Amino acid sequence: MNTEKVEKRTADLYDDLWNDLTKKDFLKYKLRLRKTIPESGYTGKICLDAGCGQGAITSIMSEKAKEVYSVDIGKKALESARKNVKKRVIFKKSSLLNLPFPDNKFEFVVSNGVIHHTDNPAKALNELKRVLMPEGTLLLGLYGKTGILRYVIEITSILLKWVPYRIIKKILVILGFNPLMRYYILDYIYVPVRKRFSIKKIKSMMDGFSDLRVTSDYPKGRLNRIIYGTNYFYITARKHKKVYK
Ligand SMILES: C[S@@+](CC[C@H](N)C(=O)[O-])C[C@H]1O[C@@H](n2cnc3c(N)ncnc32)[C@H](O)[C@@H]1O
Repeated sequence: MNTEKVEKRTADLYDDLWNDLTKKDFLKYKLRLRKTIPESGYTGKICLDAGCGQGAITSIMSEKAKEVYSVDIGKKALESARKNVKKRVIFKKSSLLNLPFPDNKFEFVVSNGVIHHTDNPAKALNELKRVLMPEGTLLLGLYGKTGILRYVIEITSILLKWVPYRIIKKILVILGFNPLMRYYILDYIYVPVRKRFSIKKIKSMMDGFSDLRVTSDYPKGRLNRIIYGTNYFYITARKHKKVYK
């Protein structure tokens, strides 16, 4: 699949998923993400939410940031983000692979759950680095490679991918899954590209950054580590002081 096709299919899937979520789902989702985005990262800063979806992170940052810019490839994603975000934010329809911003513009860049859905994560990362100011902070949310959950997700998605999306969606509705649960399940099964990164790999890709820190919002404890591992994790890093070339 070429980049254009990947982006079209990805945008169509998420547009349908965002469309199903109610205001209550949005607020629940936003509450969960609030713990992950440190207030000190965005307060008084010029921020970018790269791959903003329905705008949960945009909305959090807009409460205290100096300026917020948000991009996504999905038309409906941007429409629902515009509805969900009360404060002034500049939204643009754009791919992470070609961001419509000058070098060194932002002090804080967040991209949660996006670069692993592109067909060129290294290029996406490079774009995020390009638009980030020297000494600015990048926060990425990524799929990792450890934990039993990871295998359950991969096997289920291989088995169910052959069943048409509409049918699985209908079954989930009949079984009483709420829209947010449906979002998580359908996202896992049908997203066209889902890459996974070991912590070592992503660190090796983050050339030009320092102070790398890995976190997770899974419950703590040995058993939880075995179950969840790094199925999903966050990495924050500071761009080197020297001017990016
Ligand atoms: C898993 S959702 C995450 C949304 C949001 N970051 C959040 O934390 O709720 C992925 C989003 O990234 C967008 N996306 C995927 N590939 C993209 C790309 N190449 N450029 C911009 N947005 C992209 C999708 O349209 C979707 O809205």
